Amino acid sequence: MDDGPVRPGGCPEGVRLHNHQEYSSQHRFLDFTQYKLSTLSSLHRETFPQTRDHIMSLKYAKDQPAGFNNHVEKVAIVGAGGTIGSYFTKYLLATGKHTITALVRARSKVPLADGVHRVEIDYNNTTTLVDALKGQDILIITLGAMSRLDPLQPERKLVEAAAQAGVPYVMPNAYGPDPLNPTLMREMMLDGPLANGRAIAEDLGVSQWLVLACGFWYEWSLVGNGKNRFGIDFDERTVTLFDEGEEKITTATFEQCGRAVAALLSLKKLPEDAVDAEKNKDSTIAHWASKKAVYISSFRVNQKDMFESAKRVTGTTDADWKVERVGAREHWEQAVEALKQGTDREAFSRALYTRIFFPTGEGDHTKLELANAALGLPEEDLDEQTEEGIRLGKTGVLTYH
Ligand SMILES: NC(=O)c1ccc[n+]([C@@H]2O[C@H](COP(=O)([O-])OP(=O)(O)OC[C@H]3O[C@@H](n4cnc5c(N)ncnc54)[C@H](OP(=O)(O)O)[C@@H]3O)[C@@H](O)[C@H]2O)c1
Repeated sequence: MDDGPVRPGGCPEGVRLHNHQEYSSQHRFLDFTQYKLSTLSSLHRETFPQTRDHIMSLKYAKDQPAGFNNHVEKVAIVGAGGTIGSYFTKYLLATGKHTITALVRARSKVPLADGVHRVEIDYNNTTTLVDALKGQDILIITLGAMSRLDPLQPERKLVEAAAQAGVPYVMPNAYGPDPLNPTLMREMMLDGPLANGRAIAEDLGVSQWLVLACGFWYEWSLVGNGKNRFGIDFDERTVTLFDEGEEKITTATFEQCGRAVAALLSLKKLPEDAVDAEKNKDSTIAHWASKKAVYISSFRVNQKDMFESAKRVTGTTDADWKVERVGAREHWEQAVEALKQGTDREAFSRALYTRIFFPTGEGDHTKLELANAALGLPEEDLDEQTEEGIRLGKTGVLTYH
């Protein structure tokens, strides 16, 4: 398998033809219908200590057995040292309320923050996964994007192990545009394997899943990979505007994602009673788990807004940049075709990032129930984050190697 570039939202970007074919066959292999048929017969539900019905019956904190802790303490993270996982870890540690356990492969060289418990797991040995997950309140999965092409199927194994260990909540890989919009997911080619973790969790009926719907990461998408993400190439000083570059989308910074996860997991698990549930609707994890997607945002911007910020931060003017306009739909169709043909390494990325700018409002999470206020997320400064993106870009962390 090619371990070359992979792209936001979880699928391979820059895949060559053989990779695309491989992706397609994995996609079929991981097809949920097949999964249902093959897996449920081989798993023994009686090995799972809880069922979803049981979890759903735990409605109010006041009704819980003695010793019930209404706060998330133990957080297991896969990818705790990775691109987004490192921000989750940083902010979770900063709360002082959580014990962080990083599930890593023995060969992992990714450094972990001080204070994180490192537990080695082996995807060939389910017991190691289940043991690592016993007693955890939540499993956060931030597997590298190419992992979904791994025949070992790490996400599937993690979700199954979480069920077996009785972990009440799982956050599968879905850190990007609206995961509850099937058309968008299909046209971005982010359905299928991406949704598998969620589907498996639902089918097993033990862990409730909830995902962080953060849109495309701002720094990553603005600076990494030149014109193939948000269309702005800082090195070449070119801008590719989709249509007129005026479609507003929401996008979140790494820091905002980290703050969001830490704030979410600092909420009470359950409302105290019916009055609390009514009065403080959005202040429990149970509330957000019932919504499934926790939508957050740093900025509601279009390409022109980002270009203006780029000029301010770099001290440049229009005269320093070459601007071209392309039809969003046409550009997307070309990218999809190029991906099929395997002629262009960056086709997948272009398809994703062009699709989000279709004039449909689908990339704008403010149209959905934003969790920003409930989680106490701060307003951020666009130019500061553009500057941060440029700084991170120079370190190489915004590019797949
Ligand atoms: N919204 C956006 O703009 C955007 C952009 C990029 C990605 N994403 C999404 O965010 C998710 C996380 O991406 P990331 O960049 O944070 O991840 P990452 O840093 O590339 O990888 C995180 C961890 O995944 C583990 N991993 C990688 N490949 C694996 C495999 N085949 N089997 C088992 N473990 C594997 C590694 O853990 P160990 O080595 O420690 O075991 C690695 O440290 C992606 O899957 C994608 O869905 C979103």
